[in-house]
Amino acid sequence: MEIGKATAVACSNVPFIKYWGNRDNALRLPANSSLSMNLAGLVTKTTVAFDQHLERDEVVIDGEPAKGAARARVSTHMDLIRHQAGLRAAARVISHSNFPAGTGIASSASAFAALTVAACAAAGLHRTEAELSALARRGSGSACRSVPGGYTEWLMGQGNATSFARSLAPPAYWDLRDIVAVVSREHKAVGSSSGHSLAVSSPLHAARLLIIPALLTACKRALLARDLEAMGVIMEQDAVMMHAVMMTSRPPLYYWAPATLAIIHALQSWRADGLPVYFTIDAGPNVHLLCEADNAAEVRTRVQALPGVLDVLVSPPGGPAQLAEDHLF
Ligand code: DP6
Repeated sequence: MEIGKATAVACSNVPFIKYWGNRDNALRLPANSSLSMNLAGLVTKTTVAFDQHLERDEVVIDGEPAKGAARARVSTHMDLIRHQAGLRAAARVISHSNFPAGTGIASSASAFAALTVAACAAAGLHRTEAELSALARRGSGSACRSVPGGYTEWLMGQGNATSFARSLAPPAYWDLRDIVAVVSREHKAVGSSSGHSLAVSSPLHAARLLIIPALLTACKRALLARDLEAMGVIMEQDAVMMHAVMMTSRPPLYYWAPATLAIIHALQSWRADGLPVYFTIDAGPNVHLLCEADNAAEVRTRVQALPGVLDVLVSPPGGPAQLAEDHLF
């Protein structure tokens, strides 16, 4: 018998200043604060129903029963919420994303933000936005940035309760577009969670962390001034620094594909022609291109024509994670 059911929808997000490396892997306390934009076009919807008759959590992700580590990760997160709510019942969890998982489009961000909001509501647990964000962080670090809306900042904090994201500006503040050039739909060989623990093995990690506070301040200022050029330069520098950390870890992580670099080269020539567009890359080969809404059609047309680009996903800024009325089951 179902004893509590809720559905939530959450956006993915694209970080302008990245999260890479944890100072506490178990709690997912990040080595640095980060900053991102929610993506209205890339969303996950999740329904959670607690059921006294279930022996263990049943998890279905994109139509497939989750097994092994994926199921365990969801169940561990559910345990946290059960513990806070004083609940013992297992739950049925059905989740659907409208974009491919595991390819550097932050599927875990939207997934754990939606799961947290749905599971808390289904468990009757009332939490503030900051508390929901901190809770989502325990499932996947970047998920904490998908709880508040629009442009968000994840404060690294002092500990569990103070490491959460808050909104810096609503979606309507700046009509940017994130245009993802998909060059691979394959699941990445090394996921972010294992990648984070390798960060400390790179001699460049400490150097990146030293410069992050200055980059964050400048990036926030550029964002609030809606200055794409100032923000784009910082975003690109941090993305490449993060990948330099990845590539110099032991063992090294090479997420780029040949098409990744080809897109960067093309984008530099478009910029030289007067088209303002900037890139960032997460833990995968796909490239996020950031531009103002007025230039989105032109950027899309150009990127679609590049060899190796399989698909193009365009997103305006998205709102906060929210409860929805229409359940998935
Ligand atoms: C490269 O949030 O996916 O996208 O906490 O282990 O789930 P876990 O890691 P995750 O890491 C994201 C890393 C990144 C950069 C970013 O999103 O800031």
